[in-house]
Amino acid sequence: MNKLYIEGDKKLNGHVLISGAKNAALPILFMTILAKEKIEINNVPQVTDIKIAIKLLKYLGAKIKSKNKILYIDTSSINVYYPPYHLTKKIRASIWMLSPLLIRFGKAKIFFPGGCDIGCRPIDLHLKGLIALGVKIVKKDNYIIAFAQKPLKGKNIYIEKISVGATITIMSAATLAEGLTIIENAAQEPEIIDVAKFLNTLGANITGAGSDKIYIVGISNLHGGYHKVIPDRIETGTFLIAAAISKGFIICSKTEPKYLTNVLTKLSESGANIKIGKDWIKLDMKEKRPRAVNISTSPYPGFPTDMQPQFTLLNSISQGKSIIIENIFENRFAYIHELIRMGAKIKIKKNHVVCKGVSQLSSNHLFSNDLRGSATLILAGCVAKGITVVNNIHHVKRGYESFIKKLNKLGANIKHI
Ligand code: EPZ
Repeated sequence: MNKLYIEGDKKLNGHVLISGAKNAALPILFMTILAKEKIEINNVPQVTDIKIAIKLLKYLGAKIKSKNKILYIDTSSINVYYPPYHLTKKIRASIWMLSPLLIRFGKAKIFFPGGCDIGCRPIDLHLKGLIALGVKIVKKDNYIIAFAQKPLKGKNIYIEKISVGATITIMSAATLAEGLTIIENAAQEPEIIDVAKFLNTLGANITGAGSDKIYIVGISNLHGGYHKVIPDRIETGTFLIAAAISKGFIICSKTEPKYLTNVLTKLSESGANIKIGKDWIKLDMKEKRPRAVNISTSPYPGFPTDMQPQFTLLNSISQGKSIIIENIFENRFAYIHELIRMGAKIKIKKNHVVCKGVSQLSSNHLFSNDLRGSATLILAGCVAKGITVVNNIHHVKRGYESFIKKLNKLGANIKHI
């Protein structure tokens, strides 16, 4: 059942409900370790990475129940500071257990998280930030042990490279440190704003999240609370591309248009007719073939790297030539070899690709390699000529809730084999 059988030549039209953001829910789940009271988290997407995060929290001793997409979490009985290798290695997000476990127990033992297929995913910036706050780090071959004489001391920390992960690690450690921490050159992604909002709901004192300078005034402990996770901007962008490549129309609701300004600008440039409301986005291609658009990924509010594969697919069937530059991850073009096997005219040159649009791709037997690449290959199969088979679709289940069901509701014809 790890293969999909996809009928091509489909128009993808209709209405899709956007789920909660995986990349906000994951750090928020691990931040619950910082509190010892009951927490309720709403709009958590049911995806594999979340299921693994829940397994990790239960292993540490947390009690978790879920009902109607709300997670009821009680971390009062967490009593383990060393998550198991077999679960830690499965998700990159497991690094976000380091700082909460360290703060709670004064020590933590964490295996280096799974790099994934888009790059080596180092954690040096996470560790530098913690060391600046007074943490002692001992590196072993495939794990680290961290110690902190309680409590940490607030500091001014400049993160030398913009990093979502490191910003969240340092922000969470500073939450219960003594005094003021200022994080400079902080990542500005909406998911960071959501993590800060969640911590503030539990009693933290964080301001400036979403800008490049975050202020954290340390407090002594956190209480329980309720939080609703923000919508997933990358799922939204992926479905907008689904309609754009099939010259169709779509309404994405329960989303947040202001997180997608850059993506919507590029879609309009490609010829899409875009309308937005409070929590919805409508895209209509009016049967027109898209025009190719140049893309260069950068940290938020720049063009999101997590939308690079989807836009390369758009460009591969658009009118004209385009250049796509990937500035964040060093190996995020694996899916392109599969698009070329479908007839796409793409040349890879180090960290950028040159794409010449063709009128239609042809079906093939494809192999997906990572989360956003596999979503892209599935979309390619929906519009290619003939029947496409995509293998290794466990990747797409990591980050898209009911992706196949939502696509079939839009007119796709995709079956699990
Ligand atoms: C988060 O990854 C997201 N993952 C990624 O989404 C997203 O692409 C990325 O942020 C955007 O920057 C989750 O939230 C679970 P980074 P993260 O730290 O935190 C380098 C998806 O498809 N770096 O911002 O790992 C790093 O190698 C995923 O949903 C260091 O050098 O990304 C990369 O080149 C893919 N040292 C760059 O910084 C460090 O200590 C940005 O990484 C940390 C990062």
